[in-house]
Amino acid sequence: MANSLFDLTGETAVVLGGTGVLGGGMASALASAGAKVVVVGRSEDRGLARVREIEQAGGQALFQSADALDMASLTAARDAILAKTGSVSILVAAAGGNRPDATLPPGSDFCKLSREAWNGVFDLNLVGGSLLPSQVFGETMLAQKKGSIINIASMAGMIPLSRVVAYSAAKAAVINLTKFLAREWATRGVRVNAISPGFFPAEQNKALLFKEDGSYTERGAQIIGHTPMARFGSAEELAGAVIWLASHRASSFVTGQNIVVDGGFSSTTI
Ligand SMILES: NC(=O)c1ccc[n+]([C@@H]2O[C@H](COP(=O)([O-])OP(=O)(O)OC[C@H]3O[C@@H](n4cnc5c(N)ncnc54)[C@H](OP(=O)(O)O)[C@@H]3O)[C@@H](O)[C@H]2O)c1
Repeated sequence: MANSLFDLTGETAVVLGGTGVLGGGMASALASAGAKVVVVGRSEDRGLARVREIEQAGGQALFQSADALDMASLTAARDAILAKTGSVSILVAAAGGNRPDATLPPGSDFCKLSREAWNGVFDLNLVGGSLLPSQVFGETMLAQKKGSIINIASMAGMIPLSRVVAYSAAKAAVINLTKFLAREWATRGVRVNAISPGFFPAEQNKALLFKEDGSYTERGAQIIGHTPMARFGSAEELAGAVIWLASHRASSFVTGQNIVVDGGFSSTTI
């Protein structure tokens, strides 16, 4: 990887939500390209497991606990990370997900959707998933005049997906905020982009996609039927997009973009 456009040696990458399936996969990818990776989340067990996996593969990683919804916790985490690493030049903001009470099953009434459920999904995906980490780590990157922020949005943020109304709207807002910050910080050394995954089996959605016997649920089968590649994605398939956007050499003139990784889902109707 030395001297390649995609070499991240010398960079420190913070992966908020690195304790999860997609964030963890992207943490491993960044480490494989040479970055020192800080896995951040609330779950110490899952965070340390990811750190061990990265180290066993020959990479460098550490775990830092933080609650993405709590500015004081994020600021303390950033300061603890800086004390150990000296800089943070890559942020992957991957905390997020839906919640059951914000889902509208067939026949349910949109007019009855609770404000609490709506706000909870917006808080997690827009505030904790993008706004607060951009503020906390963006401040550091602006001072360094160097940084790449990668927000994990969703294909549902481009085309509203049935049932997950608040999630789709929150992810649309993440894409919008990504573009706003890209313009705001374009001359100050900080690039801001998003990755929008399609459907990737993870903790938060596996019950939605698979029955206990491993076969598809009705919803899972519908999704596969609408995906030109006729399969779900796997976390490793986000590696190329995240390494490219993280690399200050490979994507030096790329900011404000939303890179869709969805097996073609958003490119087709029936
Ligand atoms: N899987 C998909 O098909 C798909 C598709 C499009 C977009 N996405 C997005 O990809 C991202 C990762 O999701 P995933 O599918 O990998 O699900 P996941 O395995 O459930 O991961 C979700 C992550 O969010 C973190 N998180 C939740 N609340 C948090 C909080 N208050 N503070 C810090 N971290 C918090 C969790 O960490 P802790 O529990 O350790 O705090 C966990 O690491 C999310 O933004 C999701 O919306 C996923």
